[in-house]
Amino acid sequence: MSQQQVRSDYSILFRSLQVKSVTLRNRIVVPPMVTKRDITGPDGIQWYTRLARGGAGLVIVEATPVDWFASGLSAGKLRKLVDAVHQEGAAIAIQLLSVPFGFSVALQDLSRMDIERIRAYYATAARECQNAGFDGVEPHGAHGNVLNQFFSLLRNLRQDDYGGALPNRMRLGREIVQGIRDEVDEEFLILYRHTPREDGGYTIDDSIAFARALVDDGVDIMDISPASDKEPADLAAPIKQAVDCPVIAVNDMDDPERAVATLQDNRADLIAIGRGLIADSEWPRKVSEGRLDEVVKCLKCDEKCHGNLSKGLPIECVQWAEPDP
Ligand SMILES: Cc1cc2nc3c(=O)[nH]c(=O)nc-3n(C[C@H](O)[C@H](O)[C@H](O)COP(=O)(O)O)c2cc1C
Repeated sequence: MSQQQVRSDYSILFRSLQVKSVTLRNRIVVPPMVTKRDITGPDGIQWYTRLARGGAGLVIVEATPVDWFASGLSAGKLRKLVDAVHQEGAAIAIQLLSVPFGFSVALQDLSRMDIERIRAYYATAARECQNAGFDGVEPHGAHGNVLNQFFSLLRNLRQDDYGGALPNRMRLGREIVQGIRDEVDEEFLILYRHTPREDGGYTIDDSIAFARALVDDGVDIMDISPASDKEPADLAAPIKQAVDCPVIAVNDMDDPERAVATLQDNRADLIAIGRGLIADSEWPRKVSEGRLDEVVKCLKCDEKCHGNLSKGLPIECVQWAEPDP
């Protein structure tokens, strides 16, 4: 049988995956994407319900600042979203982002108390998310965000035990995971999104060491996301080889052949499709039923997803017939 024939059998994408007590119905993940919609209101809930209804196995809700949980966001307000996604048969996690000090304050100016506050915010946020019924949380440690900056020699110039040597640069990410694990049930999933790089102030070997440590600390799924959508998704493979937990690969995975090849070659356990699922949330169902010609393919124009995001507008897709289906 030729390679092509083997590859056009898409069934590997639709094998379920058990992670602790959570069953993912297939290998397709909605990666976190800021929608500029209120995730506690009808608009946001409708957005995520549509994605779940399209057939994805795991929906990761967009980057949500941890400090929002200290200023009013609560389990009660998130429960409707969680129930709606579960109702459609998908598991649901939420990405947690640290922005209180954000990009305006240099890492070396963060005090011990600031760091303690970030850790406490993460633990509180995770507890609320568990109470809301989420299956897991994902600290955002990728794409140059705060936790990623702590890991990078280029961005982290601290002289204390949060900077310098690799174990120090891993410290905050690890402590956050440990803090969450102490706060939630053993069965509650912790994902971690990380960007392996060679040129970001650390090496792929550093990322491997970090991933191993995070898994020791209680991470259940490593979400490996390149720094930009211009980079290949192959960065998941070295992490997949190094850790004993499921790994997500992302970036242009909406080509079913590429998605299948990634799983078949054991370069990842799960594939995430971002813009492709914005263009057509029914991608999973259509591919599973062999209706490939019906898939509305993402044009990678970024006009109304990234484009709207940069204008502060709710994200959409140029291919939608209606502004908001
Ligand atoms: C509109 C938009 C918002 C995004 N927001 C986030 C985010 O909140 N957190 C994150 O880690 N990545 C975010 N991303 C990156 C995606 O999760 C994903 O990694 C990226 O789009 C590449 O996958 P794709 O080629 O399938 O679109 C965003 C991407 C888009 C298009």
